[in-house]
Order: sequence, then structure tokens, then C-alpha cells
Amino acid sequence: MSANPPGAGLLSMEQLARLQALARELNPVQRAWASGYLAAGAGATAANDPASTAAELRATVLYGSETGHARDVARRLGEQLGASGAAVRVLGMGEYRPREIKDERFLLVVTATHGEGDPPEPARGFYEFLMGRKAPKLAGMQFAVLGLGDSSYEFFCKTARDIDARLEALGGERLCERRDCDVDFEQPAAEWSAAAVPLIAARLKAAGATAGSVTASEATAAATSPQASFTEDRSAELPAVVLDHLRLNGRGSDKATYHIEFDIDGSPVRHLPGDALGVVVQNDPALVAELLEPLGLGSDTALAAALGSGYEITALTPGFIEAYARAGEIGTLAELCAAKDRSALRGFMANRQIVDVVREYPVKGLSAQTLKDMLRKLEPRLYSIASSAEAAPGEIHVTVAEVQFRSRFGPRFGVGSGQLCRRIEPGTALQVYVQRNEQFRLPEDPATPVIMIGAGTGVAPYRAFMQEREVQGTAGRAWLIFGERRFRTDFLYQAEWQQYLKDGLLTRMDIAFSRDQRDKVYVQHRLRERGREIFAWLEEGACVYVCGDAQAMAPDVHAALIDVVAEHGALDAESAREYLNELTLERRYRRDVY
Ligand SMILES: Cc1cc2nc3c(=O)[nH]c(=O)nc-3n(C[C@H](O)[C@H](O)[C@H](O)COP(=O)(O)OP(=O)(O)OC[C@H]3O[C@@H](n4cnc5c(N)ncnc54)[C@H](O)[C@@H]3O)c2cc1C
Ligand SMILES: Cc1cc2nc3c(=O)[nH]c(=O)nc-3n(C[C@H](O)[C@H](O)[C@H](O)COP(=O)(O)O)c2cc1C
Repeated sequence: MSANPPGAGLLSMEQLARLQALARELNPVQRAWASGYLAAGAGATAANDPASTAAELRATVLYGSETGHARDVARRLGEQLGASGAAVRVLGMGEYRPREIKDERFLLVVTATHGEGDPPEPARGFYEFLMGRKAPKLAGMQFAVLGLGDSSYEFFCKTARDIDARLEALGGERLCERRDCDVDFEQPAAEWSAAAVPLIAARLKAAGATAGSVTASEATAAATSPQASFTEDRSAELPAVVLDHLRLNGRGSDKATYHIEFDIDGSPVRHLPGDALGVVVQNDPALVAELLEPLGLGSDTALAAALGSGYEITALTPGFIEAYARAGEIGTLAELCAAKDRSALRGFMANRQIVDVVREYPVKGLSAQTLKDMLRKLEPRLYSIASSAEAAPGEIHVTVAEVQFRSRFGPRFGVGSGQLCRRIEPGTALQVYVQRNEQFRLPEDPATPVIMIGAGTGVAPYRAFMQEREVQGTAGRAWLIFGERRFRTDFLYQAEWQQYLKDGLLTRMDIAFSRDQRDKVYVQHRLRERGREIFAWLEEGACVYVCGDAQAMAPDVHAALIDVVAEHGALDAESAREYLNELTLERRYRRDVY
């Protein structure tokens, strides 16, 4: 026990002893509830009771997270602040009422970036509100922002940057500089937290906040939000054996999209429509050999094994080019990285993987460790689950589009999609896990109409939705708007959609095949054409889902929805945007884009 326990000096020794005895009796949930009870001013009669002052003078840690990293960092930050004697609550942006922000005095934001520089899906409502014209002035608020991202994306840590700049523009005072963390975020995030915590604790103390750690808001939110139904956002890894492996595209298609069925029979893991399957992927041994040979490391079998299962060796990043140029003293590559205008670097990266750079600029004498230090950890790949556990118990189906292009040295494939499309067959065993996605669930009320918009593999979760609704005998209306390249070869799961239409489970289907005519037609064109009905469905309470490509489709669909709402709701563009923001906050506009 510390020589000077928290609360000493504020409470009498007898009060302190009673409080400590009670705290020892309570389990963590009871402790969280009790601290919320006290922080909310329980038993206080006067408005200026010290307990309520302390509740106002807490720090709020808000996190924007899809796969849990930012959430875990935020929770640790909350614990550290609590341990330093500060009153603090930790909340996901999806559980936070954005209008509360005007009452915050100390706001810490930890957020990832997803899509193509987009906020994490649960954070979208908060983000849109903050960026919109209804955001309040924040003079008097002190804030700090920590970003999590991946520098291989063009818009590195964009959500954190945007929020940081916006909080300042709204009048907030920055407590400490933002830090943008790359994929190996643990250490920089810990360093940022270690520097920020004493600063924030001191400011809180100076402002008069003396209450101990409070995480009750999170406990309360967890007890009431649908996210509480899962304690973990990803299941433990489990073995899955390939049952079926079919190419969905017809002969002559320039795409390779596969329907893969896995047997997970006997696994206690439950998945729900909207969840994704995480697949632990392996590099192609032939690619590993092709990479090591020009470096003179071809005979290092231990290195080959390490690269095979542990390091990203496909997607090229500016970080790799920079490190490789430094290690090999390659002037041209160093200049490319140093140029202010990134377009030349972008051009260089097109149609090249790491192996292509190494073959073009072989460097002899690199040690195995130097090479590993340049590479990033190999991460599992996620695939939307395309089946319902009710309809296909013991199985998980996915729909995988192969990432492929030609470099000057030959055909190149993505590690995960390449493995799933080319290097497995019925009987192959893989390690997988279920990644929960509470943001992309069917409506709680099965009578709610659903509009499902998806291009390419974006249709996968809708197959799970329809299977679930069929098993449950759901009466709600359903509208599918699907896009791909060509009707004849690329209409994924065509027979199934047509059967659902025939059975009345699918009320409407609109299709957009971009390459069947001279002018390109995409799902967003169909939305505009059917604008009046789309708006009528929205007004009747429909939930709209968007799944698939984050780079082009999701922004174009968003723009089309704004136009539809503006035209058919007789609103200006800003009000139409706010209409969609409200839908997001009500969880009636849900996206799963990648
Ligand atoms: C929640 C979620 C759900 C998803 N659901 C699905 C799904 O249902 N089906 C599906 O197929 N995918 C889905 N994905 C995407 C999937 O996880 C992988 O990202 C995808 O399969 C590519 O991974 P890979 O390992 O094959 O490619 P990688 O080896 O990671 O390579 C992909 C990278 O290669 C680079 N690249 C691509 N083309 C070129 C080029 N011409 N020149 C140079 N570089 C290039 C790009 O940087 C790209 O990011 C989902 C992703 C998420 C996050
Ligand atoms: C589909 C996808 C898209 C991403 N897009 C970006 C991006 O545009 N910019 C960026 O900096 N990071 C991007 N990232 C990286 C994430 O921000 C990073 O993995 C982060 O640690 C995830 O945190 P979370 O688990 O809290 O969601 C992306 C990751 C995924 C899976």
C-alpha cells in the first residue's frame, strides 16, 4: 500500500478505512458502478456539492476504433490517468452523444483512420458532427489527440489530423502535440501517453478536480449498448478446413472472385451477419525465394521461414523504399522519397511489389536482421462473412476477389487473396478468427426495411443478411443494389438473388454493370435514378447499408445519397448532409468499406 493513499487528507481516517474496506469487497463492475454513482453526486443536495464539481472536472477519453487498437490504447490511457488520481471516463465515439462535447473541459482523443482516409465506422457520426456547421464553439476546452494509422495509406492518420485541427479551430486549447503512430503503434502510443498523463493530471488538479479514477460512463454505456453483447471484438483463433472453393466469375471475365466455404464444426465461436472472418495468411514460398535470391540470402532457410509467416513482403510502402534506399545507398530511390511532390513516388509504386524493387536494385551484403527491420509484421486479412450461422451451421462462407497485377518481372498477387484464390483447395486447413462488427448489423426490428448497396465483394454480407432473414421468416422489405463489371460473367450469386426475389424476401433488386455499355454505370447512378423511391424508403424508416470499395464507391454513393435527399426532401446540400449524419447517429446508415 502506498504511504499516502488516494483520498488521504480529504477524508477522515475512519471514512478512508470504510471506503477501502468497501472497495475491497466490490468486483470490478460494482466498483465502476459505485464510482459513477459517487461521481454523479449521489446523496448530494446542493448544486455546488464537491462531488458534482469533480464530475464536471473529469477528463473524457474518446476513441475511434474499428478493430480494437485505438480502443485498447484509450483504455490504457484512461487507466493511467485514473492511477494518477484524475477523474476520467473512457468512451467509444459511437456511444458518445456528440452534442456533449460543448461541456467537456478536458478531451483526449485516440483514433484510427480507415477506408481511404475515413473515420472508423463507429466514429463517423461524431466525426461528421464535429466537422459540420452545428459543431459548438469549444473555448475553454483543453484537448490532445493521438492518431493510429498505417503509413502505406495515402491519407496517413487523417482522422486524427482532422479532429486535432478542428478542435483547435473551434477554440480548444491543445494540451500537447498530436502524435501519429504507424502500424507498430504500441511504443509510440505508450510514449505519448506517458508524456500526456502527468500534464493532464496536473491541469485537472489545478482546475480543482480531485476525485479518483472514474470509468463508470464506459460501464454504463457497455451495459446499455448493443456492443455489450460481446466482451471481445475478435474471437480466439480456430482451425478451419476448406470445404468448397469455387470461382464465381464466368469464363472470359477479367476478374477472379472466389466463393470459399470453411468447416468450423465443433467450434464454440458464434458469428452474426455483418461479422468478418480474419484469416492468418502466409506468403507464397516462391515469392519469398524470389525476394531473397537477389539479396544473396537465398540459402538462409530460417529467414525464409520467418518471412513466410511473419512479414509483409507484397504491398510496397514509402517506408520500405526509404529504408531500402538508405541501407543500399541507392540515390535514385532516396531522391524519389525526398521529393515534396509525391506523384513520382506514387507512380513508381504502381505495379510494383517489394520484390520488384529488390530485383531492380539488388543490394548484396544486407544482413537478415536489417532486411527484417525494414519489413512490417504480417497481419491477418479480413473477409466479410457471406453466410448465416442459422442457415449454414458449422460453416463460414466468404467471397474473395484476387488482388492481381503485372509488374515488369511477371504477375503479382496479394498475399491473402492470392493464398485464398490460388493456394488452397478442399481439405486445406487455415487458422481463422471471427472479427465482430456491431456497426453492420441487421436492424433490431425485423420489420424495418433495408437498402443494401454493394459493389463486387461488397455483396458478401448481404448474402448472410438474406440467409438470416429467410431462416427467421422476416417480413421487412429488402432492396439490393448491386454493381460489378459485366452481367454475363460477374453477377455474383445471381441465382440466389433471383430466388430471393421470386420468394418475395427481396422486394427489389437493381443492378449496375459498368462495362456492358459505352458509358460506365455504377451503383450510385442507380441510386440517383431511383431517388424518389430511395427517399421514400428512408422516410419510412429504412436502414441503408453500403459495403465494398472505400476508395471510389463509398464516397460516390455518399454523394449520390446527399443528392437524392436534397432533391426529394427539398433540402439544401448542407441540410441533406445533416440528414445523413442523423441517420448515421441513429445507426440507420451503416457502412463496411475497405
Ligand atoms: C472489414 C473488411 C472486410 C473485407 N471484406 C472483404 C471481402 O469480403 N472480400 C474481399 O475480397 N476483400 C475483403 N476485404 C479486403 C481484404 O481484407 C484484403 O485487404 C484484400 O484481400 C487484399 O489483401 P491481400 O493480402 O490479397 O493484398 P496485399 O498483399 O495486402 O496487397 C494489397 C495491396 O497491394 C497494392 N496494390 C494493389 N494493386 C496494385 C498495383 N496495381 N500496383 C501496385 N500495388 C498494388 C495496394 O497497396 C493494396 O493495398 C475486407 C477488408 C476489411 C477491412
Ligand atoms: C481497410 C483499412 C483501411 C485503412 N485505411 C487507413 C488510412 O486511410 N490511413 C491510415 O493512416 N491508416 C489506415 N488504416 C490503418 C488503421 O488505421 C490501423 O490499422 C489502426 O491501427 C487500426 O486501429 P483500430 O483497430 O482501432 O481500428 C486502415 C486499415 C484498414 C484495415
